[in-house]
Amino acid sequence: MNAKLKKLNSKLPFVFVNMAMTADGKIATANRAVHSFGSRRDLEHLYELRATADAVMCGARTVEISRSILGTGGKKFRQHRLGHGLAEYNLRIIVSGSGSIDPQAEIFQKRFSPILVLTTKRATARKLAVLVKLADEVKIFGETEINFRSALRWLREKWGVKRLLGEGGGELNDALFRAGLVDEINLTICPKIFGGRMAPTIADGLGFQRLAAAETFELTSIKRKYADLFTVFSRR
Ligand SMILES: NC(=O)c1ccc[n+]([C@@H]2O[C@H](COP(=O)([O-])OP(=O)(O)OC[C@H]3O[C@@H](n4cnc5c(N)ncnc54)[C@H](OP(=O)(O)O)[C@@H]3O)[C@@H](O)[C@H]2O)c1
Repeated sequence: MNAKLKKLNSKLPFVFVNMAMTADGKIATANRAVHSFGSRRDLEHLYELRATADAVMCGARTVEISRSILGTGGKKFRQHRLGHGLAEYNLRIIVSGSGSIDPQAEIFQKRFSPILVLTTKRATARKLAVLVKLADEVKIFGETEINFRSALRWLREKWGVKRLLGEGGGELNDALFRAGLVDEINLTICPKIFGGRMAPTIADGLGFQRLAAAETFELTSIKRKYADLFTVFSRR
């Protein structure tokens, strides 16, 4: 990486992604009915990671399907946050290029920390008007696809986000990988097979077309806990 790019990146948050995957590489069943399949240890792991993040970010479909409110997981995690100089609650970020996130989504019912929506010019004025009432800030980055490099720089400058946890799904992850913005992948491999060519994986979307373009990581940690394998891949 040249010095100029490094300098630009230094103004970006550290981005770490956390996903649970079956042994055949799926993050949900093809019909999306099963979205939670990790062990209790994996859930604890998710909250431990959130406890180190200034903000947690998800794609619109994940927020709707998993009904996640992107919370801290309880008092002990909030105490950990405060003890490490973080705000008591993480910021919550939803990505929706068309602004189509369901206004009834559970996350909007729980008002414990700011909710930010990243969107594009594809979002109609009507959709934006709805979102502005639901979220603490709605910000446009790009024409049709979110320009994540600009978005992340804004998150750092305006909202002080130094550590950003991405929690999928596959389409959001793919956009982050393609933009070269993922520093670390926390991947829990669960001993299940979902199969199905339409089942989502940790990176869907457009993907890379050439080996030379593929993002490359190195395995930096591997731990077996009960039936699951907890791995960490760091960007090379
Ligand atoms: N096992 C796990 O660890 C795990 C974790 C997370 C999710 N999941 C599962 O994954 C599935 C959802 O994944 P998914 O890939 O379908 O959806 P997703 O990534 O959660 O959300 C996709 C939506 O996010 C927005 N988006 C993503 N990238 C964008 C970009 N570059 N520019 C603009 N908008 C963008 C778009 O919203 P609009 O359509 O509104 O424009 C898009 O439709 C669910 O079944 C969920 O349960 C599993």
